[in-house]
Parts: sequence; C-alpha cells; structure tokens
Amino acid sequence: MSIPTVGPRRRKHIAGLLVLSVSILLLLRNLCWTPPASFSTEVPGQSQEDCPLTVILAAVQRDNLTVLAQQSGIRLGDDLVIYVADDPNAPIPMNKGDEAMVYLSYLIDNYDALPELMVFMHAGRTSWHNNAILHFKSEPMVRRLRRSFVRDQGFVNLLCDESFRCANLFKATDQGYPSYILTRERHGKGSLESQYDKFQEIWDAIFPSQPIPLSLGCPDGAQFALTRQTARGVPLDRLKALRQWIIDTQLKSFQAGGVFERTWHMIFQGTSNSVACYIPHECFCSLYGICFGTISSSPDTLLNEATSSGNEIYEMSRKLGRMRYLGDQSPSSVIDSELAGISKNEIGPGKAGLLEYMAMLEANITRQTLDLDALVGKASIQTM
Ligand SMILES: *[C@@H]1O[C@H](CO)[C@@H](O)[C@H](O)[C@H]1NC(C)=O
Ligand SMILES: *[C@@H]1O[C@H](CO)[C@@H](O)[C@H](O)[C@H]1NC(C)=O
Repeated sequence: MSIPTVGPRRRKHIAGLLVLSVSILLLLRNLCWTPPASFSTEVPGQSQEDCPLTVILAAVQRDNLTVLAQQSGIRLGDDLVIYVADDPNAPIPMNKGDEAMVYLSYLIDNYDALPELMVFMHAGRTSWHNNAILHFKSEPMVRRLRRSFVRDQGFVNLLCDESFRCANLFKATDQGYPSYILTRERHGKGSLESQYDKFQEIWDAIFPSQPIPLSLGCPDGAQFALTRQTARGVPLDRLKALRQWIIDTQLKSFQAGGVFERTWHMIFQGTSNSVACYIPHECFCSLYGICFGTISSSPDTLLNEATSSGNEIYEMSRKLGRMRYLGDQSPSSVIDSELAGISKNEIGPGKAGLLEYMAMLEANITRQTLDLDALVGKASIQTM
C-alpha cells in the first residue's frame, strides 16, 4: 500500500474522481482491526470504533462536490472517494449500471490495497434510500456507523428503516422468479414465461452454476458497508466479470444497476444468505447505536412512532419549500388552487393566509424535529 502523506486535508483532484483524506493517522490505521493477543480475554472495545473508513460515493456532474465533502459524515482519519460517473474522464469503463459500475470499478482498481472498512453510497445526501428517523440524511449514517459491528458482519446494508421492513421479500414459484424483481421493469412485452426465463438468464450470469434460492430479499437502496476481508472473498476475476456483464448486457443502464441492488448481499455473503431481512430496531441499535430497547419495553412501537414523525417532518418540509417557491411567483388561479390543495383550503385566493400557514408549518417542523432528535438522543448508546 502506498504511504499517504501525513498532514492537514490532503486533496487530490483528478477529472471525474475526487479523493479527500482528513489527516491520515497512519499509526491508528496500522493498529486498526488487530485481533486481541491470544492470551487476552479482553473484548475489543471503543478503540475499534475509531478504525478509519473510506466512503465511496457514486456522484454525477450536477452534484456539488463541496457539499458532498461537507456532508459526508467522515471524521478524522477517514477517506472520501467521489466518482463523477457522467464525467467522460471518470475512471470507469462506461457510464452504465448506475452506482454498480462505480462500486465494482473501485473494488477492481483497488483490489490489492483496499481499505479495511468501506462504505458505498449514492451522492444524494437526503434521499429515500436513507432512514426516516435520521431525517433521510446520509451524514449521520456515516458518522454514527458502528465500525466494530461492520467488521464483525463483513457486509451490511445501511437501510434499517421501519418502512422497508422485509419489503422486498420474494418467494420462488414453480417457475422461479419473474425478471422484474431484479430489473424493476418488465422485460420487453414478452409472456410471463419469458419473464421467468429472463430471470434465469440474469441469475446464471451473476451467479454461474449456483442454484436459485427459494426466497430472496434485502433492503433497497444499494448502500452498504463492507470489510476488506469480505470484499476479497470475491475473486478479482469475478468482480471483473460482473462489471463486464454490465457493459455487455442488453438491459438498460438502470435495469443493470437494479440487478445489483437486489444481489449485492449474495455477491458478498453467498447465495445461501439470500435473505437479508433485518428487524428494524435491532438494526438501528447494532448499526447506528440507536437502541430503543434501552428506553422502552416495546422498542418496535417506539421506532414506529419515530419513523412516522420522521416521515411527517420530511413531508412538511417539502410542503414548506414548495410554498416558498409558489409565494414568490406572481399570483394566478393555478397557484391559488395548488396552495389550497397543499393546505387543505387553509390558504385562500391571492395567497391569503399563506404567511401564517407557513409560520405554523415551520413551527411544527421545528417542534417535531426537536422531539424526534431528543428521542433518538435518549436512545443513543454512544455520544454523537
Ligand atoms: C456548491 O455549494 C457551495 C456551498 O453551498 C456553494 O458555495 C457553491 O457555489 C456551490 N458550487 C456550485 C458549483 O454550485
Ligand atoms: C401543526 O401543529 C398543530 C398542533 O399540533 C396542529 O393542530 C396543526 O394541524 C399542525 N399543522 C400542520 C400543517 O401540520
């Protein structure tokens, strides 16, 4: 592994790829993950949480790299690698397959010097791929990530959200599975039978000579944490073959990417682990140190409420943003009717009552955000 220079914010900017390190602490890095000496019965403690990680972001040119770096959630000793997939100079063979192309290219190009701990994410900093109780933000996911848990698991999806509880659990029929559960879109206009054949064809390409499991499923989002050891359990040639499949397939770009969204867990953990279905409150506790079980005897119910609140806050914020925008436009009946719709007729013609309504919304957002953050804070087993 090349020795990075020690110093304040090392920044390397190649077209299409941004590498940002926050003061590399070499000593820390080398000590990291060292197993306890055999004579010791001590469980690796807090120091394991300090192990550096590398966040690999799949971005596009319209993303603001400054904002991505600011809101990455990385801390001292961590690295951030941003691929700008639609930059012609990005170090990927082709902009196809969405984030899957970026993730595979990173793993292939760095195979012999992978970081101990990697987090693969989309550039969108606030997105439905993220968790409602953390305001759908990427930053707290990275910041809170319990690195020792990832090390023990080898691979873990970053989405714990209650709304996604086993949402995509599929059971094979006699014919197997229809292809759209991998590609998100019915393949062609063919018969149902051709859907099943297509699934088989894709499966054989991704998992050659492996039987199709009876059930499969995982959280959506294609965002996960991965250890070097688990990554290197997949031979380099196999990673290259997977990437080549993306390049060669007749599927559309997003369909090819979608196939990986539903299969990453099996690529890294084997097809015998075809169902990655987490219990949300346990997932939050293990992965982010938010343990509702420490403050409630029904952690599930509490998480449910917190999730609803997170969703409401998001919805109210969206409404408020739209109202601000409409408020700045010249008055028209179209705007009047949209405002009436959003506010359930609380806002009348000519924007009457708009300001009051916006003030109420804003107050509600603030109050509910404080309540939710306080609850999450109370359930947190580590200070953040
Ligand atoms: C990126 O965001 C920063 C911070 O909000 C802003 O100052 C800057 O102008 C933005 N850059 C571009 C290219 O939009
Ligand atoms: C704001 O909160 C108040 C008090 O809980 C509630 O009556 C009102 O309906 C809320 N308004 C909106 C737009 O959410």
